[in-house]
Amino acid sequence: MSATRVGFIGLGHISIHAHLPGLAPLVEAGDVELSAFCDISEEALATQAAAFGAKATYTDHHEMFEREQLDAVYINLPPTLHTDQVTIAADKGIAVFVEKPVSLDMAQAVEFSRQVDKAGIVSQVGFMSRYYPSSEKVCQLLAERTPRHVMINLFYSGKPVRWWTSRYEECGGSFVENTVHMVDLVRYFLGDIADVSAFYQWRQRGEGPEMMNMPHVYDVNYRFASGVLGNATTSRVLTNADGAGRRDVVLVCDDSMIEWSTGKVIDNDKTVWEEETQGRSAFALQAQAFITAVKARDRSLMRSPYGPSLNSLAAVLGANASAERDGERLSLADVQSSQVSWNPMFCAGHGTPTLD
Ligand SMILES: NC(=O)c1ccc[n+]([C@@H]2O[C@H](COP(=O)([O-])OP(=O)(O)OC[C@H]3O[C@@H](n4cnc5c(N)ncnc54)[C@H](O)[C@@H]3O)[C@@H](O)[C@H]2O)c1
Repeated sequence: MSATRVGFIGLGHISIHAHLPGLAPLVEAGDVELSAFCDISEEALATQAAAFGAKATYTDHHEMFEREQLDAVYINLPPTLHTDQVTIAADKGIAVFVEKPVSLDMAQAVEFSRQVDKAGIVSQVGFMSRYYPSSEKVCQLLAERTPRHVMINLFYSGKPVRWWTSRYEECGGSFVENTVHMVDLVRYFLGDIADVSAFYQWRQRGEGPEMMNMPHVYDVNYRFASGVLGNATTSRVLTNADGAGRRDVVLVCDDSMIEWSTGKVIDNDKTVWEEETQGRSAFALQAQAFITAVKARDRSLMRSPYGPSLNSLAAVLGANASAERDGERLSLADVQSSQVSWNPMFCAGHGTPTLD
């Protein structure tokens, strides 16, 4: 079978450190050809094309789509920079891999999802946590349990590194930018979320690193469609704590407590699965699954296609909207249909001034 022709839009952090290394064995085996890279930075293009061996480079995705015959495209852009990349790919029947969060604008994401469905193309949103072997182990355990309660802990650790991931209006805050992975993972375990109610501790002017204007703490309650109740708690204040932090999920079922982390699963205090997990291994498994689905033209093979992933996006954008309304309970159906929305400028009244 001929190599799958793949294009990349956005040659930043996640492409370089996760997706391109994840695809590398497939490129080596001749299953994938890196046909084209596109980035507005000439320097990034030159460096990454040399490092990964892309056949052609472009600074404008329109030109790339016009000139190249692609089977699949990775769209790895900050969430406010999505314009017509998905639309053009769908028009041309090109499969799309889109990094999370696919947009900060719910209506835009719903429209892109409609286009993906109409075109019938394979799609995947970058929720790689569904590909950790530990996640599969939890799914196996849950098949024989009755879950009642879930808790997500994400105490984010590290200095702010990029402008856009430090700004509420640019990334939606840490809950949207980071915790969305864990929210999507518990959806993988437990199904869709119906309602949200959230409280945030807003950062005040002068607190924390200067570039950050995001809340310090996010405390979010969920009610799942199944009736399971959940709590997701996130903070973004451990900026200089020698790597101290936390990222795990606890599921309480009838007579069983399951604890998930990347490399370990515990069932009633007994370790039932453990692996020295390479942090990036899930990306390779996800890449393999995506290319297999593209070759087979089988949309059902992906764990997080565009349309079904919208409930995860609504769950985090809905948390923002609820916190901005002092914890008001919101239905995710109303968030997804944009009857209620978050306000990217809300932080202006709290932290550093928001850019116009
Ligand atoms: N799955 C994960 O664990 C994970 C981790 C990090 C980032 N992400 C997500 O990946 C996406 C990209 O994040 P990143 O960290 O790579 O960002 P980044 O800022 O490191 O890189 C973005 C790249 O896009 C380029 N770019 C900007 N506008 C462009 C345009 N119009 N056309 C082509 N290129 C353009 C920039 O020059 C830059 O090279 C975000 O949605 C982010 O949330 C996911």
